Amino acid sequence: MIRKNPHYSKLQASYLFANIAERVGKFQQENPDREIIKLGIGDVTLPLPPSIVQAFHDAVDDMATSAGFHGYGPEKGYPFLREAIAQAEFISRGTSITADDIFVSDGAKCDTGNFQELFAQNIQVAVPDPVYPVYVDTNVMAGRTGQWNDGRYEGLRYLEGNETNGYVPLPAADLKADLVYLCFPNNPTGVTATKEQLKVWVDWALENRSLILFDAAYVSFIRDENLPQTIFEIPGAEKCAVEFRSFSKNAGFTGTRCAYTIISDKCVIWDESGEEIPLKPLWSRRHTTKFNGVSYPVQKAAEAVFSPEGKKEVRELTDYYLENARLIKKGMEALGYSCIGGGNSPYIWVSGGMPSWDAFDLLLNKAGVVITPGEGFGKCGSGYFRISAFNDREKVNEAMERIALALK
Ligand code: MLT
Repeated sequence: MIRKNPHYSKLQASYLFANIAERVGKFQQENPDREIIKLGIGDVTLPLPPSIVQAFHDAVDDMATSAGFHGYGPEKGYPFLREAIAQAEFISRGTSITADDIFVSDGAKCDTGNFQELFAQNIQVAVPDPVYPVYVDTNVMAGRTGQWNDGRYEGLRYLEGNETNGYVPLPAADLKADLVYLCFPNNPTGVTATKEQLKVWVDWALENRSLILFDAAYVSFIRDENLPQTIFEIPGAEKCAVEFRSFSKNAGFTGTRCAYTIISDKCVIWDESGEEIPLKPLWSRRHTTKFNGVSYPVQKAAEAVFSPEGKKEVRELTDYYLENARLIKKGMEALGYSCIGGGNSPYIWVSGGMPSWDAFDLLLNKAGVVITPGEGFGKCGSGYFRISAFNDREKVNEAMERIALALK
């Protein structure tokens, strides 16, 4: 008899964004004439920039010729893309990361979700609260937690983000955890971490023989030059951290799919006999076994992100969404709501003054605007909601007008 993975029974009914899409779908069906503005899931709306589209087209044309045709590519990604990433994002910032440390994939969501497979079942996992739900749900599926109880999974350690710590939880002196997930600029709060704060985490991980999974999917929204652009700027991070990045939010690849994960040769974990072992060969084993690479045209398009023209265009895209974020924050503050995020991030975290699913229902019903309820990101998110800046300017302006009327 084929039987279910019992850990799936612990999961909440559906994944946060699937749940929201279902509610919005139902609302739209019941209100077919209502034009809904989506500031919920962080999905980009602007088209791919011209130089990236051109590289994409050229690569498709290559595929139509005998000389330029590409079948299975290298599982870790084509060297042309890994070299371009290493140079632009890591070597230029003085880190020790090289092209060999980069694994190209089809998404940071998949990589952050899959990475936990490499570790023993009985490790202690710590996640921030509020948190991107993928880190939690994938550990639940893997059986590393107990039951859902009062808004949390038993067995997981939650690192609370709140006004007191500026939503950047740091390790308490007694924190015992083997695996810690961090995300900066943060999803969902939009806050960023300073070099000093990341150093506290790296020093803690080195001392405790722990590993940090650092999600940097929103790094291209950082405008403050003093903020770290990669965890590998922190001395020692190459030994205790893995970084995840994506082309989704900066270059508009949410539908095109391309991302990468960075693991230094120096990064180590410990095996069942307590022997220190390098982490990179384990991910390489997993990646080459379960993944067959991102398509050649998509990798050529991603490479164009690092050309002088591509860099300029990507900067324009992220500037556009940051201006949306500024307008949203200004609008919510003018209505008397306290907000964080937005400055170096496409997300605004709003203290909503009501249960967060009530805020979701109110804004959907009265304003026809979709936001993300904070509770979906964890217990510390209750009473908050997240507004995404990913939409066209006219839609953002209209959404803010409608929100102002709905919340009056
Ligand atoms: C979000 O809205 O939190 C993100 O778009 C989700 C994702 O990138 O998977």
